[in-house]
Formats: sequence, C-alpha cells, structure tokens
Amino acid sequence: MSTPHNSANVGDIAATVIMSGDPLRAKFMAEHFLENPKQFNGVRNMLGYTGLYHGKPVSVMGHGMGMPSVGIYSYELYHVYGVQQIIRVGTAGCIQKGMEIGDVVVAQGSCTDSNYLHQYHLPGTYAPLADYELLSGAVDMCKQLGVKHYVGNVLSSDIFYDDNQEWRQWAAMGVLAVEMESAALYANAAACGRKALTILTVSDSLVEKKSASAEERQLAFTNMMRVAFSLV
Ligand code: HPA
Repeated sequence: MSTPHNSANVGDIAATVIMSGDPLRAKFMAEHFLENPKQFNGVRNMLGYTGLYHGKPVSVMGHGMGMPSVGIYSYELYHVYGVQQIIRVGTAGCIQKGMEIGDVVVAQGSCTDSNYLHQYHLPGTYAPLADYELLSGAVDMCKQLGVKHYVGNVLSSDIFYDDNQEWRQWAAMGVLAVEMESAALYANAAACGRKALTILTVSDSLVEKKSASAEERQLAFTNMMRVAFSLV
C-alpha cells in the first residue's frame, strides 16, 4: 500500500527515519551515511531512501517546510509504514543572546503558534515533548563530539517573516530558537505512542540579524547528522 504522497510499499521503510526539511539533505545523508541506499519515494521530489548504518536498517526522507507538510509525512510514516521513531535534523533561528550560528539545539519541547494541535480537542494547552531516551542520547553524543549545544524549548511557528517580532515574547519565556515543524512531529508521535526528536543547527540569529555561510551550514549540518545517526 502506498499513500498519495509516498510511493513506498509497506516494508520499504525502516523503523527509524531521519528526516530533514530539504529532500536534497536526505539525499546527502543517504549518500554519506548509508550503505547500499535504495530510493523508496520521489513523489513531489520528497526523496526517501533506506539503507544500512553500521549494519542496521535506517531510512532518511525529506519532510518539507512547515507543520502541514511534516504533519502529513510523519503521520503516514507512523500510521501506514509502522515507523517507530523519527529524528528530525533541521535549522533554526536562535532568539537568545549568547547563542551562535552553528550551535546545536536539542528540542526538549516545542511551543507553537499553529492550530495543528486543535485536532486533539484537548481541554487546555498541550506541551509537545521529545522522547526522553532519544533526547538524552543526543545530549550525550553532543558532549562526546564536543559540539556546543543547548537543550530546551523551541518555537514551531507558522510565520517565517515575523514582521511583528513576536519571537521576542517567546524569547522572554526562555524559548531558545524558532523553527517550523517540531510541534506537529511531536504531537503526531504522542498521538500514536511513538517516538520523535528534533535536533537543530542554528542557521541564523534573530537577535543579531546574522545568517550562516554555506560552509558554516554544511559543517554544522554534518555534526548534527552524526548526532542523529548515533541514536539509531
Ligand atoms: N524562523 C523559522 N524557521 C527557521 C528560521 C527562522 O528564523 N531559521 C531557520 N529556520
């Protein structure tokens, strides 16, 4: 069985999927981390591959930008393909002083300004959280690799061009960085009792209005991917 967005057959996708917003980053991970990668999806160019990492089957796939997009792909992975854990590797804009381009943020929790969680009809505000085992594994690996990292809340926002600087109010609540997907991923995982974690690299600073160069991005991405693959 396939879905409108994924042409893989059940069984083509491993129990662990490492996802990035950009499908070409998924291709990069397949080419640099997996042995014998086989492409399982090309619908809408949302590339996905399964191969072996140190002898264990792992898949990598793009998830696109924003909560509706990651919501669709991760829902299908959990519900149709039986995926047990999804590790998202992405970029974020930091919103705290002292944080720098290239720092890693392990997203312990994810606040959101999106309506995605309304579907659960909860009588309050749900706090989307990472799986603790994945989270602590990622933190240990950051320490081992000597990667400068932060652990805490991020904001999954529907707004990239934040003209009203709403990020400042989230920063005042201790939120570390802004991205656009984790709350939907964590909620999807929670709703079906599976695991998820987001690991982010700071690609720009909203505090200092700076962005990473292409080289800084690549180096930082590779560090983050090493952390993600160590969790498999
Ligand atoms: N906002 C939202 N998502 C992002 C950003 C940002 O500033 N940087 C990288 N992803």
